[in-house]
Amino acid sequence: MINSKHVLLIVAGGIAAYKALDLIRLLRQNYMDVKCVLTQSGSEFITPLSIQTLSQNEVYQDLFSLTQNHKIEHIFLTREADLIVVYPATANLIAKTALGLADDLASTLLLAVPSSTPIIIAPAMNVEMWENSTTQNHIQTLKKKNILIAGPDKGIMACEEYGYGRLIQPKTIMCLINKTLFPMQPLKGKKALVTAGPTYEPIDPIRFIGNYSSGRQGYAIAESLHKAGAEVTLVSGPVHLPSPENINLIKVTTAQEMLQACFTNLPVNIAVMTAAVSDWRIKNVAQQKIKKEKNALPPVLEMDFNPDILACIAQNSNERPDLVIGFAAETQNHLKYAEDKRKNKKCDWIVVNDVKPDTNIMGGTENEVTIISSSGMEHLKKAGKKEISHLLTLKIIKFFATINKG
Ligand code: C5P
Repeated sequence: MINSKHVLLIVAGGIAAYKALDLIRLLRQNYMDVKCVLTQSGSEFITPLSIQTLSQNEVYQDLFSLTQNHKIEHIFLTREADLIVVYPATANLIAKTALGLADDLASTLLLAVPSSTPIIIAPAMNVEMWENSTTQNHIQTLKKKNILIAGPDKGIMACEEYGYGRLIQPKTIMCLINKTLFPMQPLKGKKALVTAGPTYEPIDPIRFIGNYSSGRQGYAIAESLHKAGAEVTLVSGPVHLPSPENINLIKVTTAQEMLQACFTNLPVNIAVMTAAVSDWRIKNVAQQKIKKEKNALPPVLEMDFNPDILACIAQNSNERPDLVIGFAAETQNHLKYAEDKRKNKKCDWIVVNDVKPDTNIMGGTENEVTIISSSGMEHLKKAGKKEISHLLTLKIIKFFATINKG
């Protein structure tokens, strides 16, 4: 996977170990490669099989074994990792790490971590064990070594006592992991406009012309640009998706409303037009429901062209974004049609996909695209729409890094 980060997750014993499974899922959703070390006490609470299934990697448990390609595990694992996370960390593992004891794979590995590799430790234990001065002294030792101590949270424990000692939630540690691995937001200071979903063109007060677009790809792109630091406005047609956090969401119905919302939100640095805009609208929308007359032919709908929002933005010489990206969904000759579209509409890149019904791309959760620009084509193999968004965002980051240099 392009640019993915390697996280080494150590799962120690404790009733909260089951939360590590959620964390593995989150790490994978954030496009990270996860390798796990499960301590002996950890394996009393969760199984290597669950970890292996979710991480899609081998699980490491034994200090005295070699990796599949005959490397010494505790050295290889620490050298490959961009970040080490201990989730949950027991009082015992914390003590061993502070004292430099190395009597199993997890503790040996923590002693072998190069000083430049960040470590996050998330403690989980009974409140008295946490507040014990011995544990607190060990925590101070670890902090002095620049190890980040995440939590614990306060609350009722499994033993029914109350206080500090609960493992922090998977989502909380995921935020910390992202902040540690991506301290810089490469698109900070950039504004982005994204369109998503279908448009509905009314026929009468209760009927419309629409299409199968789910909006998933556009929403994922908006979120990915936001994560990279951009200030994002998302103009969305009617979809059934939750509103993304920290993104300026403008809901519209028709193509004309979408055009107006887009122009109201210029200027921007980046425009990504993923919406499946209806090419036509009904000329004379009936003010009342069109009645089905007995023995009469169905009504003939007279249509007009909708504005091409992408072309209007790409050809808007006053406030043209630095980078205008269009999407193209085709059922045949998709590369040729897309390149023609890029030239005719005058956008910088076209992201094209083959939406023949058997691909299940339109309205589905996966996509397989080719990005066409004036300098050539780049194919992204079939992947989740979030992952495609991540890869497109990396390409956008590269584009701005290049123009800022030039
Ligand atoms: O011409 P076609 O609909 O295939 O072009 C697709 C691209 O153009 C997409 O990026 C879509 O969002 C954009 N488009 C638009 N306004 C239209 C039609 C398409 O912005 N009326």
